[in-house]
Amino acid sequence: MKKITVPEIMGRKTGKKLAMLTSYDATTAGIVDEAGVDIILVGDSLGNVIQGERTTLGVTIDEILYHSKIVSRAVNRAHVCADMPFMSYQVSIEEALRNAGRLVKESKVESVKLELNKNYLETVYAITKSGIPVMAHIGLCPQSYHMMGGYKLQGKSKDESKDYVELAKSAEKAGAYSIVLEGMPLELARMITGSIKIPTIGIGAGPHCDGQVLVINDLVGLVIEKPPKFVKQYADFRQSMTDAVEAFCADVCNDVFPAPENSYSWDSNGYNK
Ligand code: KIV
Repeated sequence: MKKITVPEIMGRKTGKKLAMLTSYDATTAGIVDEAGVDIILVGDSLGNVIQGERTTLGVTIDEILYHSKIVSRAVNRAHVCADMPFMSYQVSIEEALRNAGRLVKESKVESVKLELNKNYLETVYAITKSGIPVMAHIGLCPQSYHMMGGYKLQGKSKDESKDYVELAKSAEKAGAYSIVLEGMPLELARMITGSIKIPTIGIGAGPHCDGQVLVINDLVGLVIEKPPKFVKQYADFRQSMTDAVEAFCADVCNDVFPAPENSYSWDSNGYNK
């Protein structure tokens, strides 16, 4: 099956919108890919979803490398992008290049994403110049949790909004092939989307972006806490899983499982099939 490429993603500024979801394991990534998403992100949201942490700050480059490797292996069509975790690109451009390179060489991802403010524009430039496509992420940047004082909607004032439009333009100039817009009023997301030629992919940023991204666990309801308002939950896996586990426990207690069809027995030639 033909892979979705970076030029194809850049070409989706007009026409069909981009659908992007996170995945962290091979089974989920395979299902998400076959169902037709355009981009699979190995997000540092794995800190929340997989590791049960409050923030993404503890996620390491080795953990992203591991999850990206198993996701890439399972995906035939979607573009696979890996998040650069906190402190994997902030220390120096050299370190950012080395870590982005490891993600492509060892985990076989096709691009990297990093949370952007104006201090990291040169880093975006250097990574793209090395041949690795960069997706920028602006607005609510979870790696700035402590600076923001929690997960806070961004771009609420006119001045802040102007800064975000300028940052998006600078990211495009630095070579980013797309930009995630997270946690901002839909009016600002519309302004940014209209100001740049590369596609915007929104999360909690309203309907005017060129695509949308969600965390897969939020989408299918495999969550511990109720997801935020911007999430649309399409299934209730938590309830389905609870029902299945309760039924299993009852079957074991009542000697209903394993039934003969779940068991092996001797026949004259050895084991039955
Ligand atoms: O880490 C992540 O999953 C993300 C998306 C929610 C955009 O950055």
